[in-house]
Amino acid sequence: MEAPRRSFVRTLLLSTAWMSGVSGMKRLHLSAELIPSAEGNEGLLSIQPSDYPVLSQSGGSIRLGFNPIRSNHQPDGTLQPLLINRLEDGTLKAMSAECPHGSCAVRTYSTGSQSHVCPCHASRFRLDGSRISGPAPFGLETYPSEEQPDGSLHVLVPRLRFTLSTQVVDLGQSQRLRLTFAARRKVSYEVVRRRQINEPWERVAFAGSEQGALSQTELDGEGLLASVYVEAPDHQGLFAVRILPKEY
Ligand code: FES
Repeated sequence: MEAPRRSFVRTLLLSTAWMSGVSGMKRLHLSAELIPSAEGNEGLLSIQPSDYPVLSQSGGSIRLGFNPIRSNHQPDGTLQPLLINRLEDGTLKAMSAECPHGSCAVRTYSTGSQSHVCPCHASRFRLDGSRISGPAPFGLETYPSEEQPDGSLHVLVPRLRFTLSTQVVDLGQSQRLRLTFAARRKVSYEVVRRRQINEPWERVAFAGSEQGALSQTELDGEGLLASVYVEAPDHQGLFAVRILPKEY
């Protein structure tokens, strides 16, 4: 399997905790902020199409996954990958890579065969996800997406939403913030922070225990509640836990 191209991954927060700028962490007001969603279970995925040169031309296609894909072409976990395609009219389209026949992950679009091909039983789909042939009864599920003024593409992905709870941990000389969330099995997460609402997100190192070294930058979920600990030396900022999709 091709190595995940993590440096190309751009994804937006799924849950956040706002820390207001006050004098001491014990007095922090914390609240959760979730990405708005119509159905209540989507997560907002944001990518920069310019990070993927193949998307610069019609027929370009990428597949992003959250769980690794097994040799039987199904995800090793509960989350299916998604496809992002550049259509003939220049727009981008996002859709599930899950084949409607038997849930195998269909391949990226091939300009040679002019189709997405399912590796299990050879169902074929057009660039827009509609069915061409094979045992799949219908086309690929489309995900709502919108290109943003800054060039990014926002995609609402079903079943990605999760919640984050926060708690200040007093260590005597200092305090840390504990971020707790349900970490899905074989899904990777990172913690990011921005100091002000309009500043860019920055990846931050975290610890796996209250007094542990702040040296981790990525956590692989085990299907359990996970807690990570971060420092907030100037007592303000917005923290988020993000899922890291990869080009599986
Ligand atoms: S699972 Fe795709 S054609 Fe059967």
